[in-house]
Amino acid sequence: MCGIVGFTGNHQAAPVLLDGLAKLEYRGYDSAGIAIRDGKSNTEIIKEKGKLKVLGEMTDWGNAVRGCCGIGHTRWATHGEPSALNAHPHSSDDENVIAVHNGIIENYQELKEKLSKQGYTFKSQTDTEVAVKLIDYYYKKYNEGPVDCIVRAMLRIRGSYALCVMFKDYPDEIYTARKDSPMIIGIANGETYVASDVPAILKYTRNVYYIGNHEIARLEKGKVTFYNIDREEISKPLTEIKWDAEAAEKGGYEHFMLKEIHEQPKVILDTINSVVQNGQISFESVDLSDDVMRSIRQVYIVACGSAYHVGMAVQYVIEELTSLSVRVELASEFRYRKMSLQDNSLVIIISQSGETADSLAALRSAKKQGVRTLGIVNVVGSSIAREAESVFYTLAGPEISVATTKAYSTQLIAGYLLALQFAKARAEITDERYAQLISEINSIPAKIEKILSDKERIQWFSSKLVGIKDAFFIGRGIDYAISLEGSLKMKEISYIHSEAYAAGELKHGPISLIEDGTVVISVVTQPELYEKTVSNMVEVKSRGANLVGVTTYGNYAMEDTADFVIFVPKIDPLFAGSLSVIPLQLMSYYVSVGKGFDVDKPRNLAKSVTVE
Ligand code: AGP
Ligand code: GLU
Repeated sequence: MCGIVGFTGNHQAAPVLLDGLAKLEYRGYDSAGIAIRDGKSNTEIIKEKGKLKVLGEMTDWGNAVRGCCGIGHTRWATHGEPSALNAHPHSSDDENVIAVHNGIIENYQELKEKLSKQGYTFKSQTDTEVAVKLIDYYYKKYNEGPVDCIVRAMLRIRGSYALCVMFKDYPDEIYTARKDSPMIIGIANGETYVASDVPAILKYTRNVYYIGNHEIARLEKGKVTFYNIDREEISKPLTEIKWDAEAAEKGGYEHFMLKEIHEQPKVILDTINSVVQNGQISFESVDLSDDVMRSIRQVYIVACGSAYHVGMAVQYVIEELTSLSVRVELASEFRYRKMSLQDNSLVIIISQSGETADSLAALRSAKKQGVRTLGIVNVVGSSIAREAESVFYTLAGPEISVATTKAYSTQLIAGYLLALQFAKARAEITDERYAQLISEINSIPAKIEKILSDKERIQWFSSKLVGIKDAFFIGRGIDYAISLEGSLKMKEISYIHSEAYAAGELKHGPISLIEDGTVVISVVTQPELYEKTVSNMVEVKSRGANLVGVTTYGNYAMEDTADFVIFVPKIDPLFAGSLSVIPLQLMSYYVSVGKGFDVDKPRNLAKSVTVE
């Protein structure tokens, strides 16, 4: 969950590193640091608690630090509280080895004891410092060189890591090693870059290598050499990044989140078009044939957070369109359950980052049982994308705001298209209905544009919610799944305590929480459940609730029940979630802005939770 960068080339390294870290702050921002080497001279290490701005001001944004080779880090602590001492880079006492790390060294205590017996002492509370000194230990013990000592350390370490390492004896070189945490390596004009994610280096190069698990790389100026865990040199293809630099910037919006909310029509269309041609779905690029889809008897959708909420919505769509049995599981639970997966199962892992530790572990757990796996992932080359048997890439582009919006919406689209193709492959849908639903899905972008064009009304209403302490979101069926997402959005960016309930569940306890002025936001887009949900709305209204309704145009009677109604365009109820979620995203955004919070970087959170 932190951000790492490295550079070796012909320019001053520090400004490049700080620029890259600024693009990675969304990955964690409790402290930051850089280590810069000027040829054979000593390395300068500068690190401090706080956001990157603190480090930038300490170094005049890198202009005060000389050297053309360096590494940098912006941290989201897992071992040792955020502090200057625990900030990366970490080094051996003689600075023979200096490194930054993203991930967790699970057996760091055991290794720390081993190294202490060898005379090592430790300044920080981090697991990373242990890894650095383990590398130093092997370097001195076997005197074989950087790749060898790193491999020896990798064979002893349990856990996850994206490591960038500098050695005193190898000026101008950076060595990297990867297991489970994300890392890409870029090259251009005789200079070499390494980073946790694309935005950090896109300004300098679009040509990148994806280093694989248990692989090591030696970075020299304009040259990269890869090795496998057996220390054999291996070759890697150079990939061109399609994203433009603009895509990773704010594009004129105040926050990435608002930009990304507005990008939804486009990225949804891109995602649809990636598999729908001439009204037909083709999963050739996903590597999921109709034969395979016909053989599936049980579907498991496994994910975390908002991605889990996508699964909750897609479950209803698959069940509506096919006779398949669908289970939705939290990845953090699934990975530890003793669940025997049925034969002919498909485990779908949904993950924007493709690096979420729990989701990656769930994928591996499913693969161990030999069932087919499919990743719905937004980041090309990410761990889940590369380890799942089949991959449906959402084309949301880089999502910088910690609170997901466009990635969530493109995941919904992927789920709809999967459900439709399952129905087609299993001959459980008529051609006419198939065509009609494809057309309905194609209408989503324009209908979202319509909602966005009316956002000022939502902004006005949201300003009235800034002082509330609690909020409840209720709905039935797909509306319940959308309520879950609306509640999470409100929690994670406005820090308002919020709960989502299946509307029919209120009378089993939660309704005792309703008192005068309690805000209840009710999502009501499913015709068959409309009356039932309206009854629940009347129940809370009669107990003093401040009632908000989100429903489709035409349900004007809702205005007799709710204090404030937001209408979304009509669409097949199966896909109404793609529309009703938009006002909830906007509402949370405006409340957070109204409270003066850092919308894109909410407290305690990081964009990708790559540790347990
Ligand atoms: C969503 O707004 C949150 N940031 C979080 O719940 C997120 O959806 C979850 O951590 C899963 O991330 P992933 O999609 O990258 O796996
Ligand atoms: N485990 C390391 C630390 O706590 C790295 C954390 C991270 O990857 O964010 O410093």
